[in-house]
Amino acid sequence: MLTDQTTLNWFAACNVADVPANGGVCVKYQETQIALFHFARRDEWYATQNECPHRKQMALSRGMIGTQNDEPKVACPFHKKTFSLTTGECLTGDECSIKTYPVKVDNGQVWIGVED
Ligand code: FES
Repeated sequence: MLTDQTTLNWFAACNVADVPANGGVCVKYQETQIALFHFARRDEWYATQNECPHRKQMALSRGMIGTQNDEPKVACPFHKKTFSLTTGECLTGDECSIKTYPVKVDNGQVWIGVED
């Protein structure tokens, strides 16, 4: 959980048009792969680590997004382990979670906040 927003470094990830509606893309920040999702049905954006912690596959950007009890989530395309897009918590009962990043959209540009 981020408590001090001033430590965030916002980087320009891509343009809004680069991300499919209700889908995701992989963007890179230095050597880190980040999965960026446009949850168009809810007009929301989310970013998480791209690596699925289950088998270390760089796969979450290709996962299926949806909701579980109104919680936005992504399901890994490999074995369907599912993670909250807001907290990163695993929703399929496994003891693994993923990192999440704040996202903002400004004038057609998508920004992701990473800690320095
Ligand atoms: S690698 Fe993602 S669920 Fe197995």
